[in-house]
Amino acid sequence: MRQNFLARRFLEGCGGRFQKESQVAHFEAYTEVSEACTRDTILVTGGAGFIGSNFILSWMEAAGSAVVNLDLLTYAGNPANLSSLEGDPRYLLRRGDICDAELVGALLREHQPRAIVHFAAESHVDRSIASPGAFIRTNVQGTFVLLEQAKAYWSELSEADRLAFRFLHVSTDEVYGSLGPHDPAFSETTAYSPNSPYAASKAASDHLARAYCHTWGLPVLTTNCSNNYGPFQFPEKLIPLMILNALEGKPLPVYGDGKNVRDWLYVEDHCAAIRAVLREGRIGETYNIGGMSERANIEVVNLICDLLDEMRPHAATGPRRELITFVKDRPGHDRRYAIDASKLSRELGWQPAEKFESGLRKTVRWYLDHFSWVESVRTGAYLKWIAQNYTERVAL
Ligand code: NAD
Ligand code: DAU
Repeated sequence: MRQNFLARRFLEGCGGRFQKESQVAHFEAYTEVSEACTRDTILVTGGAGFIGSNFILSWMEAAGSAVVNLDLLTYAGNPANLSSLEGDPRYLLRRGDICDAELVGALLREHQPRAIVHFAAESHVDRSIASPGAFIRTNVQGTFVLLEQAKAYWSELSEADRLAFRFLHVSTDEVYGSLGPHDPAFSETTAYSPNSPYAASKAASDHLARAYCHTWGLPVLTTNCSNNYGPFQFPEKLIPLMILNALEGKPLPVYGDGKNVRDWLYVEDHCAAIRAVLREGRIGETYNIGGMSERANIEVVNLICDLLDEMRPHAATGPRRELITFVKDRPGHDRRYAIDASKLSRELGWQPAEKFESGLRKTVRWYLDHFSWVESVRTGAYLKWIAQNYTERVAL
């Protein structure tokens, strides 16, 4: 039963391209050959960043198999996120650049992974507006290098290992552009319309990933997810920045009128969705992942203020909402994102487990309990960025 189900999934995912008689018979043996595949290691790129490190921690707990983490350790990468894995023989961190073809090729040959889960990226929209070059390099060129090396490695695998191999490309809802207040949520068939250099670079990488599947049959899966929040998020992004500023009695810089809407997803739910897609997603398909938690930015910031007033009262400073300062808007600021995740839920049974209010409470608690982590990431480079982004962002 299960064997037929997986074989059918595989065939559907190939969009009919492999559906000649002989190939049908071939893929009906999918489970059999998967079982013959003994490879267990996965290669994760960008695993020292926010989502990547949460993914590796949850993967080790859920799947238990070995992980090689290829990460350049830019300002956003922090090996300490994975310090709980120190000494674990199943985990290996290799510092390196996904743009380095030789390194990527050598890693694949050495560790023979059964899957690549590709998180590595420049991920902050404001930085992409300040200096887009790094986004083109890592997100476009880096994904291209990774796909090329993956194709070379995959094409030399045995038949069983080729069938079992997956390249999971982690992407964003920002590729779809911006929604009006009454527009339906983004679905997998929404036309691409990226508005920031970050979104454009991710859209380019999505197209490359798709092309490698369509042209050469590389078993690619793509996920497009909404805004994540949770432990280990670098404090340049809205939620951790507001938590830390509010804690320290600093102004809370809300862009524009604060009514831009994001669809928030707790990071562990994103990780669970990626595991589900890796396990059972149809090759060549894209899956939208979202939290069903649309909130205006000002609502999020108000909630953070109230949670901190409750969890860390500060009589001298008064209610933290008083720290809110509306500042000059982000150029080209997308108004609203919302995700229709019904395909993922229908096909793979995934649902977000966390409600926004409880997830935000957990997140505030995490930052309160991990102030040494916060101090360790607020280095010179971080302080320089904060000065650059906010000094010229005058109050409205
Ligand atoms: P992040 O900025 O926290 O982490 C990125 C990681 O990639 C860092 O560890 C960094 O050192 C590494 N990296 C950067 N350039 C590299 C290179 N050239 N070679 C190797 N490693 C490199 O990002 P994140 O928020 O964890 O996002 C991870 C992925 O998920 C990205 O692809 C992003 O586009 C996507 N995504 C993020 C969100 C979100 O809300 N954060 C939502 C949807 C999709
Ligand atoms: O939608 C998924 C995307 O979400 C990911 O692909 C990106 O990697 C991730 O950074 C995030 O992009 P956003 O631009 O939506 O996230 P950010 O946290 O930067 O901003 C969230 C909203 O808050 C956005 O409308 C801008 C606003 N904002 C942000 C900052 C940093 C402020 O009002 N003030 C701020 O200081």
